[in-house]
Amino acid sequence: MHRHPDLDPTSGTEDPAEYSLRPQRLQEYIGQEKVKARLEIALQAALKRGEVLDHVLLFGPPGLGKTTLAHVLANEMGAPCKVIQAPALEKKGDLAAILTNLEEGEFLFIDEIHRLSAPIEELLYSAMEDRKLDILIGQGPSAQTLKVDLRPFTLIGATTRAGLISKPLHDRFGMVHRLEFYTRVHLAIIANRSASLLGIHLAKEGAEAIARRSRGTPRICNRLLRRCRDYAEVKGDGTITEASADACLKLHEVDDLGLDALDREYLQAICHKHRGGPVGLRTLAAALGEDEGALEDLVEPYLMQVGFLDRTPQGRKATDAAYAYLGVKSDPGPLFR
Ligand SMILES: Nc1ncnc2c1ncn2[C@@H]1O[C@H](COP(=O)(O)OP(=O)(O)OP(=O)(O)O)[C@@H](O)[C@H]1O
Ligand SMILES: [Mg+2]
Repeated sequence: MHRHPDLDPTSGTEDPAEYSLRPQRLQEYIGQEKVKARLEIALQAALKRGEVLDHVLLFGPPGLGKTTLAHVLANEMGAPCKVIQAPALEKKGDLAAILTNLEEGEFLFIDEIHRLSAPIEELLYSAMEDRKLDILIGQGPSAQTLKVDLRPFTLIGATTRAGLISKPLHDRFGMVHRLEFYTRVHLAIIANRSASLLGIHLAKEGAEAIARRSRGTPRICNRLLRRCRDYAEVKGDGTITEASADACLKLHEVDDLGLDALDREYLQAICHKHRGGPVGLRTLAAALGEDEGALEDLVEPYLMQVGFLDRTPQGRKATDAAYAYLGVKSDPGPLFR
């Protein structure tokens, strides 16, 4: 069972429509107030001293705005930003070439930074810490290490898996920020902002109906907005009202909490097949025919956020709230096991 692409915050991330909705400046970046306040100070201090911004690690579930924030930071510093996906770096030479070509003050955004290979990650250590690169020239006994000075740059790393970042890499970032799920209020603001950029008529209650079901995620909010626009144009007068948003999202099987068929299947697998858990991720993934990583990235963070799931050392456990949500009595207890 795979998630509908519109509800999958990892699908089509290079969607040009999404690109056009990306906030360019910190002021336009909605929510994440704590992270913004800390970054604001760091930006102003760096600008005042005429230095580059310290390296930043961003983590959080897909679609919360890590890539957007990386570009915003470069824009605020008035610097260009080079983007690479960690898995695309195959050889040390690939990274060395990129680093030595960075302009002074340029940003390097490494997405999925938890997927760097060990030798490439090690090359980053001295680049981040001392702005130096050790390059091995030649082979065998005549091989020599050449130290190359790099121009000052800012590395922004992004990952959905904070737990997979090694300590030496983690420690070389001057700032580590965790992005949180967005509140409904912030999601409604995002829906309104996107609607005005796209020329969509969105009623106040329509924005709230979309915000409620966006799983705390701006990318999903923007996707649902587009689906609701289609619906309103076909079935109504083009304005997204509460009623048309409700009807549209019902059609897409998104419920009042924003949970979709995959979330419900996941909860049912724990509650019904495994009596509420604890159950291992691998077992659940096999039962659902899903990839473990996908469940960890896309399903579990939000279920934990709404209080339906606990991750314990023994495995995943459903909470009483999850049973209440599924409309069944909670785990019958040890007597029946
Ligand atoms: N704070 C925000 N304010 C307004 N819109 C936002 C904000 N954060 C994200 N968005 C919108 O959500 C979309 C997804 O954000 P982004 O691509 O930055 O997520 P991400 O965290 O990099 O996801 P992934 O982990 O999949 O790479 C953006 O195109 C942007 O339009
Ligand atoms: Mg991204």
